Amino acid sequence: MPNHNESISVVVREFHVNKDTERVVTLENTCEVGPTNKLSLYTDMLGDPICRLRNSPSFLMLVAEIGEEIVGMIRGCIKTVACGKSLSRSKAALTKQIPLYTKLAYILGLRVSPNQRRMGIGLKLVKKMEAWFKDNGAEYSYMATESENLASVKLFTEKCGYLKFRTPSILVNPVYAHRTKVSRNVTIIPLTPSDAVILYRNRFSTIEFFPRDIDSVLNNKLSLGTFLAVPCGSYSVENWPGPVRFLLGPPCSWAVLSVWNSKEVFKLEVRGASRVKRAFAKTTRVLDRAFPWLKMPSVPDLFRPFGFHFLYGLGGEGPKVVKMVRALCGFAHNIAMEYGCGVVATEVASCEPLRLGIPHWKMLSCAEDLWCIKRLVEDYSNDSVGDWTKSVPGISIFVDPRDV
Ligand SMILES: CC(C)(COP(=O)(O)OP(=O)(O)OC[C@H]1O[C@@H](n2cnc3c(N)ncnc32)[C@H](O)[C@@H]1OP(=O)(O)O)[C@@H](O)C(=O)NCCC(=O)NCCS
Repeated sequence: MPNHNESISVVVREFHVNKDTERVVTLENTCEVGPTNKLSLYTDMLGDPICRLRNSPSFLMLVAEIGEEIVGMIRGCIKTVACGKSLSRSKAALTKQIPLYTKLAYILGLRVSPNQRRMGIGLKLVKKMEAWFKDNGAEYSYMATESENLASVKLFTEKCGYLKFRTPSILVNPVYAHRTKVSRNVTIIPLTPSDAVILYRNRFSTIEFFPRDIDSVLNNKLSLGTFLAVPCGSYSVENWPGPVRFLLGPPCSWAVLSVWNSKEVFKLEVRGASRVKRAFAKTTRVLDRAFPWLKMPSVPDLFRPFGFHFLYGLGGEGPKVVKMVRALCGFAHNIAMEYGCGVVATEVASCEPLRLGIPHWKMLSCAEDLWCIKRLVEDYSNDSVGDWTKSVPGISIFVDPRDV
């Protein structure tokens, strides 16, 4: 039940690295993410409270304070993304789809101390963050939460005017102790970041949430590479013609994805598992390590802080595209294994056809990650699609690894 106590004075102010880091890390450590079930997920920020924001072009972190105690925090960032498309006629009279961009703000890492909840602190933090978004010209604000996280869903939809917008799926696969076999009929070609930028801009820039600064994503040191899968015998690393010529005559089927090293940014930890579950997971892992040729689907140790890789920019076409995606995911699994990750994760639109090629465990995945959105301004920018919040979802969605 709400416990709004007007006499308690809560101050919301900007986060200061030197002054606040220790107290913020302590608070984060006591806040579960999502609903409090038997198993809860915690974030280990590796001592850096703005680790999830650092790679965004513009960001802010706020803390809520009662006296000397930090009781809440919120992070936000702003960037320009595609929110629709329009048709343009080029000089050669060819009709081409071009992206329509909007300035989008994203709320993440909202936490309120378990002892101080239902006092209006979360609401206060969101309002202050939205004021910063507006001051900085953001047209929309969005946030993502598990659909079962009632506190978060109600706060945003009932108190802050957000609308339920998209429900992509987070697909998570364990990293086994054995390597995954990649189909011999598929050739995997690593692309340079500049080739990847050209490929992505040509093929994916009209997908919802595609970041206009894709070049800074692909050139970021956390981006471990972009990989292209083609049928064996079509192209190889040696005869790769570059993205422009490739796109003029692509093979019948191909797929691409990029790998982001989230392990360097933060770690996750599952708490609340019984000793039996932990022992079972450990046993499968010991066996997998001892007998890798059995290719046993072992359970990773998720009960201590573990890192993960995030697969983004998944796309492709052709009758065998699912097979190409599967090969890329196997390849990415092996990279994650070398990096000592616990899981590999990705996020795709709920009706994304390529998801058939993405191996994942249902028990680790989230079928409905709820994205809620709010329009912050009355006017639309030039060339606007109208109100994005009322638009129909596309088949695909671009999940920026910086927002994970
Ligand atoms: C979600 C969270 C930030 C809310 O913080 P809070 O300070 O308790 O929220 P507020 O007191 O400002 O609540 C504002 C409104 O949100 C809704 N709300 C908040 N907690 C709720 C709960 N447990 N159940 C139902 N509604 C809730 C209510 O509509 C509430 O208004 P009311 O108190 O007048 O009924 C907090 O529960 C939390 O830190 N949870 C764990 C981390 C998390 O899940 N973060 C969100 C990830 S996006």
